Amino acid sequence: MDFFAGKAHRIVRSAPVIPAEDPTLLFTNAGMNQFKDVFLGKGTREYVRAADTQKCIRASGKHNDLEDVGRDTYHHTFFEMLGNWSFGDYYKPEAIGWAWELLTSVWKLPKDRLYATVYKDDEESLELWKQVTDIDHAHILKFGDKDNFWEMGESGPCGPCSEIHIDLTPDASGGPLVNAGDHRVIELWNLVFIQYNRASDGRLEPLPQKHVDTGMGFERVTAVMQGKFSNYDSDVFTPLFDRITELTGVSYSASLDSPTDIAMRVIADHSRTLTFALSDGAVPGNEGRGYVLRRILRRALRYAGTLGCHEPIMYRMVGVLVETMGDVFPELHKQRPTVEKIIRAEEESFLATLGRGTEIFNEVVAGMKASGSKVVSGSDAFRLYDTFGFPLDLTRLMAAEVGFDIDEQGFEHCMQEQKSRARLDRKDKMQSREDGGSFEWFMDERPTEFLGHETLELQASLAAARISGDRLLLVLDRTPFYAESGGQVGDRGTIETSAYRFDVTDTRKDGEQSIHIVSSAYDKVRDCEVAPADVVLDGTAALAEAAVDRDTRIDTERNHTATHLLHAALRKVLGEHVQQKGSLVTPDRLRFDFSHFSKVSAGEMEQVEHEVNAQIRKAAGLTRHVDVPYEEALALGALAFFGDKYADRVRVVEVPGISIELCGGTHVGNIGQIGMVKILSESSVASGIRRIEAVTGRVAEALLWKEYHDLQEIRQMLKLKADEAPLPKIHDLLEERKALEKQLQETRLAGLMDKLAASLAGGEEVQGCRIMTERLDGVSADDLRQAGLALRERMPLAVGLLCSVDDGKVSLVGFASDEAVKRLKLDAGKLVREAASFVKGGGGGKPELATAGGKDPEGIGRAAEAFLTAVKAALQS
Ligand code: ALA
Repeated sequence: MDFFAGKAHRIVRSAPVIPAEDPTLLFTNAGMNQFKDVFLGKGTREYVRAADTQKCIRASGKHNDLEDVGRDTYHHTFFEMLGNWSFGDYYKPEAIGWAWELLTSVWKLPKDRLYATVYKDDEESLELWKQVTDIDHAHILKFGDKDNFWEMGESGPCGPCSEIHIDLTPDASGGPLVNAGDHRVIELWNLVFIQYNRASDGRLEPLPQKHVDTGMGFERVTAVMQGKFSNYDSDVFTPLFDRITELTGVSYSASLDSPTDIAMRVIADHSRTLTFALSDGAVPGNEGRGYVLRRILRRALRYAGTLGCHEPIMYRMVGVLVETMGDVFPELHKQRPTVEKIIRAEEESFLATLGRGTEIFNEVVAGMKASGSKVVSGSDAFRLYDTFGFPLDLTRLMAAEVGFDIDEQGFEHCMQEQKSRARLDRKDKMQSREDGGSFEWFMDERPTEFLGHETLELQASLAAARISGDRLLLVLDRTPFYAESGGQVGDRGTIETSAYRFDVTDTRKDGEQSIHIVSSAYDKVRDCEVAPADVVLDGTAALAEAAVDRDTRIDTERNHTATHLLHAALRKVLGEHVQQKGSLVTPDRLRFDFSHFSKVSAGEMEQVEHEVNAQIRKAAGLTRHVDVPYEEALALGALAFFGDKYADRVRVVEVPGISIELCGGTHVGNIGQIGMVKILSESSVASGIRRIEAVTGRVAEALLWKEYHDLQEIRQMLKLKADEAPLPKIHDLLEERKALEKQLQETRLAGLMDKLAASLAGGEEVQGCRIMTERLDGVSADDLRQAGLALRERMPLAVGLLCSVDDGKVSLVGFASDEAVKRLKLDAGKLVREAASFVKGGGGGKPELATAGGKDPEGIGRAAEAFLTAVKAALQS
């Protein structure tokens, strides 16, 4: 940085490793990503020279090193790329001259071990290497497209490049190994001369200006300067290995092939990727970037198994990175608790299935060994994927370890089959819903023009009409009705022709048409309601007045704009990891699902609600950017989610300074119109996904009025003053009630006991032991039990069965006095169990006291008899 600052470069910060502003990339994969707009001539910076260290992840897309990590000593999924840039300023001579100067004069790397490669047609660079440096001319080599033409991805800025490699062979004989994939001769620095844009159709378009874009692997250059043979031997990794040793007891021996060393490299590397990606807001998931991260974590855990570690370990690596790299990347400090929590939860959930999945895998392998096959079938691999969450590359890895392959085509086939099964399923459902007869009058398939952002009423022509079940479906050539999408429900309202007035209860999309769903119609000529099936239409472009119900539309808009504010507030209060995962916007309420790893506490909810309402009171106007190219929308900073498909041209809804999102829905003109937001509930929908429900405007007002009204009534009932808090009084009342209930029970029991004591005294006596059975209907099971307990104290030798039918349910309680248990060996538990079988029930307990429940009151008599017989038999034996 000092070197390039000294050459008039602006030192800039690393961009996040999650490139929110570039839909073509899952992860930042090069230092130049953040300058892509400058190269393409779409953006500018206030400087023309820059340098930085950029966090990069190469685990997906064009630049993917995942499979190599661990197996060699110089690949990483996460690394830092040091780079310097010229935006239409200096070009090849300076880029080459300075690179050479830094490596050889400042860092003093041995010149005789450095090689320069140039693009096959780039004579200019070849000559420059000779002129501006003192490199050995025999060390300048030409390579083709694969090695010396750099491209960012399938599309984007690109151009010929010149690379500097270093020969680390012991005898400096590595010249022929340049670009041969040999770990002893590695690329240090890539100087790219950006001249073209690769368009999405594959064509190369020349750029208005020429630029320099360089990238040097920080870990590699560190290793070289520390005299280490491998990046993993440099002090970038040592603290990570130390931590793994501390956690697993296994030490690192820097060997290429040792399985435990491979595992340690994987864990060290993957912990960096996960920590940095999550600190920048990514979360593991089932799609796109989230899935890449999930696979990385699972790969790491699988390798941890090699070290004998079968419990969460990755989250315990985060701290090392915070300590060693947090000064340069402060986001690590800030996000540490969240990142640890997310990783740990993810580890726990995978470990729960890993064991079972591994068992299945081993069974598969054993079966294959028996049959002599060496290829794991696609369906087995798919079962592991589908049921146990094993990504294909994990299964591939496990298979490779036992020398097997995987039938990847077969796997793909199963995957496709499952997808088409799901599709068919959906289609079936749709068809059966549509069943019940259908009839079509006329059908114009042209897309509906949607004008509902501008107006709520307009004149249109009927374009299509058909009956489906008991509903009439109408299509207009243009409409103000919003058709359900993006979570916002469809509009309601009326469509009126000269003959009918139709009540539209919902509007849905069908391809590019909006379908107005009509469930009742009014015949204006006959002046009566008609069922949709009795409507008669002709296709001669009947004119129709379409009018959206204003009240429900604006209620919906309040909730929609409130959803954007809520999203922004959640990100502010809980953190940037909060991402929309689902949304429902209706006139009555809003529901918002988002990623977050713990319950949102009452305090946090209050903060969120307060934040949103404080914004609403500021009453800012909304800015709508209509028909914006997608790229431009992202450049504005609009929140867009990967996995979401957006059109080339999009609408952007902005609440200045608060929220900016891609959104096709309808919104209030000024956030003040929302009135207020009241959060109703917070809950969990899936692991890592929370749901908030809230109301706004009219509904919030009605709700608060009702609650307030109820509260006032409560105060009146409690004879409290209007400003007196009811809680202490309610608390007292409840306590009082509890005491009264207790008293009542005591009184009840006392009465009961008088009766029971008399009946016990008059009971039959066998071998000096008093036996009683008594039926007391309407007595609760608990009272019965209390009575049993008291009775067993009344006489030294006594045994009895109490029965009650309360609310149709039978309760039995058996008791035996201490002496009856000890000396006569009576067992109330056993006796009650037997008796219970006569009332279709069961239960049990101790020899002293046992209870049972039953369903059949009819059996009580027999139960009592059986009890008596059993007691007598026991006593006589
Ligand atoms: N953008 C170039 C690279 O990533 C420097 O290698």
